[in-house]
Amino acid sequence: MIIENQKDVTTAVLSELQRATDPRFREIMSAFVRHLHDFVREARLTEEEFHAALAYVVAIGRHSSESHNEAVLMAGSLGLSALICLLNNGDQGTTETDHNMLGPFWRMHSPVTPNGGSIVRSPTPGPALFVNATFRDANGNPIVGVEVDVWHSSPEGFYENQDPAQADMNLRGKFFTDADGRISFRSVKPAGYPIPIDGPTGDLLRAQGRHNMRPAHLHFLACKEGFKTLISQLYVQDDKFIDSDVQFGVTRHLIGNYVRHANEKAPVSDVKGPWYSLEHTFVMEPGRPKLPRPPITGRAAIAARAGIHSH
Ligand SMILES: [Fe+2]
Repeated sequence: MIIENQKDVTTAVLSELQRATDPRFREIMSAFVRHLHDFVREARLTEEEFHAALAYVVAIGRHSSESHNEAVLMAGSLGLSALICLLNNGDQGTTETDHNMLGPFWRMHSPVTPNGGSIVRSPTPGPALFVNATFRDANGNPIVGVEVDVWHSSPEGFYENQDPAQADMNLRGKFFTDADGRISFRSVKPAGYPIPIDGPTGDLLRAQGRHNMRPAHLHFLACKEGFKTLISQLYVQDDKFIDSDVQFGVTRHLIGNYVRHANEKAPVSDVKGPWYSLEHTFVMEPGRPKLPRPPITGRAAIAARAGIHSH
């Protein structure tokens, strides 16, 4: 159609979308175009601001590589990832859920590790942590044979893919639940960490005067036929940033109970000094197991270490 005024542009784009044969594509794109055009009207976006916005989109791509995913960082920092997660789980956002964001650091093919084994694969200082996690269905029955990936940052706040000092796959492992629906492993207590701020996500945070820290957490990804893939994180309750996660990921339900033991015998004899234990029961929702697209596929050739940026 010939455009007579600014309102016609929206009408024209929406009417072209009617040609799309995939109904879900048509539904999503129509809503996207309506909100995008209305957003521009509400914000009265100037030409300079529009060009700056396009440059942001380009910069998100330029800052991404096989070992870094700027799009995931940006989505998290805008609260989009947390919103999508809560809308799609816990009975469409009406009940509490063990689901949480995937984050940018899941890698496929974590080493299979027997229950009770350790995921510390190169010297990693920090207090020992012993984790017991049980997987149950909605009726409380244990689920046997769940494939569970576990991964977390070192006590210095770096995932192995960011840190050449760590062995490949350090602090990552794959476990299978036993007859009681349980996995157990040894690791070290994770630390909170700064998300990278050398790209457009850093600009976004600085413009708001926000820090770039995530509270310490363990990641879990659990798969079993008949259940929706469970992606979760368990946060350390006394972390300084527990109520100001830069990625808005902390829900009340997923604040873990990391218990400090100062004078008790550890489950393994070589533990010196205070150690921690963590127990949690995950509830898996019925559905189809489907693995997410891995946000990264490898390690950084040169460590892309993030600086801490605090306010
Ligand atoms: Fe993480």
